[in-house]
Amino acid sequence: MKFYIATDHAGYALKSYVIELLQTKGHEVVDLGPSNDNRVDYPDFANKCSHAVLGDKGSFGILICGTGIGISVAANKNRGIRAALCHDAYTASMSRAHNDANILCFGERVVGKGVIESMIEAFCNTSFEGGRHSDRVNKIDGCQIGKID
Ligand code: RB5
Repeated sequence: MKFYIATDHAGYALKSYVIELLQTKGHEVVDLGPSNDNRVDYPDFANKCSHAVLGDKGSFGILICGTGIGISVAANKNRGIRAALCHDAYTASMSRAHNDANILCFGERVVGKGVIESMIEAFCNTSFEGGRHSDRVNKIDGCQIGKID
């Protein structure tokens, strides 16, 4: 699988660990920054990663900030992005199976390396189930004011 990865300053310390983990498992990884832990704004890196994923069909993203909240909220403002804030292998697996998530998000201040490895494993090894979930996922792009009651 191909992954684009980005963080803010509060997720930066985990970035090299996650990149190495993905590469060890045979995945391709593109590092979209930042290149140090100077303070940055998570929406900038959420957008960078979202645009890369949207422009590269079949690719996925990983976004990390302090809690995972801000960076996932920002990424989800991009139509076509389904950024899932996950906390364990179960949520990571369900984000693929039911939500067809294309970006995995988590918080550096929330989860440890063991949980991260299990989330990445679950995310990579679970496919979208389609069927009734496709109808729901397709409705997400219609979730704008005035489009769905
Ligand atoms: C940065 O201090 C922190 O607010 C950010 O990384 C993230 O947790 C926001 O949701």
